[in-house]
Amino acid sequence: MYQLVYLSFASKSFLADDPESGVDSILQVARVKNKDLGITGMLLFNGVVFIQMLEGDKEEVEKLYAKIEEDPRHSKAKVLIRQNSKFGERYFEDWTMGYRKVEKKDIKLIETLVPWQDVSEVSQKDVIIPKLNLMELFKQFRYGA
Ligand SMILES: Cc1cc2nc3c(=O)[nH]c(=O)nc-3n(C[C@H](O)[C@H](O)[C@H](O)COP(=O)(O)O)c2cc1C
Repeated sequence: MYQLVYLSFASKSFLADDPESGVDSILQVARVKNKDLGITGMLLFNGVVFIQMLEGDKEEVEKLYAKIEEDPRHSKAKVLIRQNSKFGERYFEDWTMGYRKVEKKDIKLIETLVPWQDVSEVSQKDVIIPKLNLMELFKQFRYGA
């Protein structure tokens, strides 16, 4: 099982329109297409930054990511993780694309795991987020921390 995690920045026009319904329409399409491709995963959005995990067949995941990367609704996509999952397991078996809006109550959790603030402020620089923390973040959201 191959997993890819990237981080990107919502485009100005995406934020200027209604971002909530913007995310809805991304998810509507993603859930249908991902099901066909055998891809599962999760999307996190804090109003500025997307972090998405895609998992499935390596070739399909890379093909889909190449398409997503070109999407004008976000930019400056940066891959944080490319790996085969431990024991070949899927993290999001039942989720063609899970979604969590990062709410205030989640900020503390996020801050301990991913430096969102740093990430958005140093957008042009290399973002270094420990792999383990990032996988932990997805697990916490998955199991409803
Ligand atoms: C942040 C973000 C995440 C996305 N995630 C997915 C996804 O998981 N699956 C998917 O098929 N499309 C996703 N898309 C949309 C794709 O970029 C693309 O619009 C969609 O696959 C439709 O492509 P098509 O019109 O060529 O079929 C995402 C777009 C953005 C901006």
